[in-house]
Amino acid sequence: MQAQAISAPAKIILFGEHAVVYGKPAIAAPVSAVRAYASFAPNPEGERGLRVVARDLGDALPRAINPEAVDDAIALTARLTLDALDAQPPNVTITIQSDIPIASGLGSGSAVATALARAICAAVERDLPLATLNHIIYESEKIHHGTPSGIDNTVIVFEQPIYFVREQPIQPITFGVPLDLLIADTGISASTRVAIADVRAFYDRDRDHAGRLIDSIGALVRGARFALNIGDLEQVGGLMVENHALLRELTVSSPELDRLVDAALSVGALGAKLSGGGRGGNMIALVTPDTRAAVEAALTNAGAARLLHTEIA
Ligand code: MEV
Repeated sequence: MQAQAISAPAKIILFGEHAVVYGKPAIAAPVSAVRAYASFAPNPEGERGLRVVARDLGDALPRAINPEAVDDAIALTARLTLDALDAQPPNVTITIQSDIPIASGLGSGSAVATALARAICAAVERDLPLATLNHIIYESEKIHHGTPSGIDNTVIVFEQPIYFVREQPIQPITFGVPLDLLIADTGISASTRVAIADVRAFYDRDRDHAGRLIDSIGALVRGARFALNIGDLEQVGGLMVENHALLRELTVSSPELDRLVDAALSVGALGAKLSGGGRGGNMIALVTPDTRAAVEAALTNAGAARLLHTEIA
C-alpha cells in the first residue's frame, strides 16, 4: 500500500443528525479534500511493539499501545484491528496527522481511527473488508460519542455519500446535480457525546415534544432524498433551513451557529444548517457560483473561524 493511500476523509451530515440516533434516516457525504493521514516506520532500535504518535490528539512522543485499555479509542482501534487481522502487534511507530479539527462535527474521531486501522493493515501487509473496518471504527466511535448511530464511521470508511438508517445496510444516494457547499467553522469545540446525551434527556423528559421534532426530521430527510435525486436545489435549500429550525428546537444549535446560518441566508444562500453534533463546530451553506463569494464574505464577517468549499456529486 502506498503511503498516500493511508488516510480517511472528513464528513458532513447534510440532513438528519440526532434524529438518526432514534432510527430515522440521515444523509451524509465525505469531504475528501480534508483528511486524517497515517504513516508508519520501523521502531527505533530496542523498542518493541506497536507505538502510535497522534500530535493533533496531544501526544508529544510516541506511546506504546496498551492492548488492555478500554477507554482509549486509539488503543481499542489498534486491538480490534489486530484481532480482526489475527496478527501480532508489528514493531512499528505509526504517526497520525489530521487536517480535521477536533470536536467540530466533521468526524475527526472516526477519520483518525480509520487512518490508524489502515496503517496497521499496511504494516502487517494484510487487508480487511470495508464492512469489518466499519464495525471496528463504530466500536471506537462509541468511546467518543457514547451511543452513536454509526453514520460517521460508515460515511468515512466507505467514502461515498450515503442515505443511512441505523442497523440497516447502507444505501448509496444519487444527486441530480452536484451540491456546491461552504462549510463554516464557529471555532467552538463541542462534544457530540454531550449533545447526544442532552437530546436523550430531552426525549426522556418530554417524549411528545422531542418525539415530534425527531419524526419531523425523519420525514424531511425522506423529502430531501427525493429533492437531491431530481436536483431541485431550491427545495434542498428550503429543507436545510427547516432542518436547522428543528435542530434548534431540539436544543443542539448555538448563537454562533444561528448567526452563521442567518448570515449565509441573508445574502442568498439557498439553504444553511448546522452539521454534525451541533452546539458549536461547523455549519453548511448551499451556494451557487453566483452567490458563493457573497456568502463566503458574509460568513467571514459573522465570525467564521475557517471556511471550506466542497462539491458533492
Ligand atoms: C454526529 O455526526 C451525528 C449525530 O447524529 C450522532 C450520531 O449519529 O452518532 C449527532
